[in-house]
Amino acid sequence: MPDDLLLDAQGVSVGYTPERGDRILAVREVDLRLHQGEFVGLVGESGCGKSTLGFAVTGMLLPPAQLVGGSIVFDGQDIASLSGEQLRQARQGGFALVLQSGMNTLNPVRTIANHFRDLLKAHGSDHSTARERGAELLRTVHLDSDVLDRYPHELSGGMRQRVSIALVLSLEPRLIVFDEPTTALDVVVQAAVMSTIKELQRTQQFTAVLISHDLGTVLEATDRVLIMYAGQIAEDQPAADVLTGPHHPYTEALLSCYADPRADVVHLGGIAGNPPDLSKQIDGCPYAPRCPLVQDICRRIDPPLAPLGRGVAACHVRAPASKELAATAHEVADREH
Ligand SMILES: Nc1ncnc2c1ncn2[C@@H]1O[C@H](COP(=O)(O)OP(=O)(O)O)[C@@H](O)[C@H]1O
Ligand SMILES: [Mg+2]
Repeated sequence: MPDDLLLDAQGVSVGYTPERGDRILAVREVDLRLHQGEFVGLVGESGCGKSTLGFAVTGMLLPPAQLVGGSIVFDGQDIASLSGEQLRQARQGGFALVLQSGMNTLNPVRTIANHFRDLLKAHGSDHSTARERGAELLRTVHLDSDVLDRYPHELSGGMRQRVSIALVLSLEPRLIVFDEPTTALDVVVQAAVMSTIKELQRTQQFTAVLISHDLGTVLEATDRVLIMYAGQIAEDQPAADVLTGPHHPYTEALLSCYADPRADVVHLGGIAGNPPDLSKQIDGCPYAPRCPLVQDICRRIDPPLAPLGRGVAACHVRAPASKELAATAHEVADREH
């Protein structure tokens, strides 16, 4: 593994097996490589598998979710082979964590100081050290240390989310997945919390993934953007290029939903139709039924990721190498039959 590669996930598939009904394949053979200190965005419509992928790569999947394929190597260690207890220990030792729109993950009957105490106890910190460390961490998220003696309900939504971020930082994770961290907040508070997240990532140099259904939020914060559709990566590009370069038709559709606050005229489009049912087999490109550029091949063969611009995209039309790669793979499959 090259020195600065922190996460190397390959061919990751995650299924949900409900008590009744068909298995939902929420993540389908996804490759995800993260370099140390990188800040990557993961964008797509609701239900496309973003959270599931975030939980998978941090070893935080819970039943009924199950890793059904692929390998996840974090800092040289295959995490799929670790037990629950080994993962818990790895987390205490600075592994990786998901921060959800975490305002409701605080315990209503514990003060904020007690939250820090509980987490840091496992690190061997005593009461006064935990309190000191808590105050210090609260300062990094721009909260006063008197927040330590408050209960969650005494704080605003934005403050609670800042506390959640400070708690996550207390474990000094090397990778943090921020899963829609500001979605539950009002717009002004959203911007302030996002700017703190950006600042922390820059100053503390942890590796981060920002999950959002909103392309605009991600473009403003991250260096590289992964577009996810129906459990797969549709496109992977430098954030700066997404606004200007050639794109996957789905990225284009998402972009048309995003109002650039600096633009004179704002076009707000929606995307007609719905993503496919993930409990069914998908033939061809999953976006084909909604795609304005659809061709015959798109309905038959799922395009693999192929070079496009400075990144990759899975599109027979826009990334022509997808077509060649798919055709070769198809021929091989035919010959083997
Ligand atoms: N606990 C669960 N049981 C069954 N299906 C689930 C569960 N959680 C998520 N799913 C399904 O997995 C798919 C991906 O979900 P998710 O990863 O939450 O998407 P996103 O975060 O992009 O909105 C969806 O189709 C969703 O219905
Ligand atoms: Mg989600």
